[in-house]
Amino acid sequence: MSVHIYSSSEELSRAAAREFAARAKEAIEERGRFAVVLAGGSTPETMYGILARDYIGRIDWSKVYVFFGDERSVPPHHEDSNLKMASEVLLDHVPVANVHRMRGELPPEEAAEAYEEELRTFFQTEDVPRFDLILLGIGDDGHTASLFPWTPALEVQDRWVVANPVPRLNTTRITLTVPVINVARAVIFLVAGEDKAKALRKILEDDADPRAYPATLIQPPGGPQWMLDQSAASLLSEL
Ligand code: 6PG
Repeated sequence: MSVHIYSSSEELSRAAAREFAARAKEAIEERGRFAVVLAGGSTPETMYGILARDYIGRIDWSKVYVFFGDERSVPPHHEDSNLKMASEVLLDHVPVANVHRMRGELPPEEAAEAYEEELRTFFQTEDVPRFDLILLGIGDDGHTASLFPWTPALEVQDRWVVANPVPRLNTTRITLTVPVINVARAVIFLVAGEDKAKALRKILEDDADPRAYPATLIQPPGGPQWMLDQSAASLLSEL
């Protein structure tokens, strides 16, 4: 595990864009393609915008395959759609090889099964698919992707994608499962803002119950990379 703290969310976003580009270059050189999972929510928007603006000619986008860590149960043009957010700030502006979206407009279980099939086809394997990079955020409740506290998806070990009922939001989300995230070659958490400070201290410094703070379940080889702004890191004592 590594933790990097940046002076502002803008600095965090610039550093994350550099990291994305470096991981893309490495994957394309070693494996001929870069299979990356985008995070939803609002925190990554600035980073995606920087990629679209400053990395057009610096990444071989024709070898970049885009996936999503989770999606809301809404159609692609809905304001809550993670696909919509990512398309508007990034995907509509770069010639990616392919965008593998989660079909939020379908019944969630159907969307989850369809996405699992899409992963099986893309990775041509029955083994847990191994992404080159997975980007994640956290909520102020310690959730990540759509792995929310005390929800059934946290226990799932035999699926790659599931429909996860989230009573607190009165909805069902589609999300990658912990086993898929934990075999990724790299996992980067992007966390900005004071509202995340309490959850972050719980996750990074306290022996928090993973059912209450699901982000603690994310333990890929070598541990995740935490990229934080100063506000989010404001309650951390050990750094
Ligand atoms: C989603 C995300 C979710 C997000 C956190 C943080 O679909 O909402 O995948 O896990 O990363 O909720 O969201 P913010 O970046 O908006 O604070």
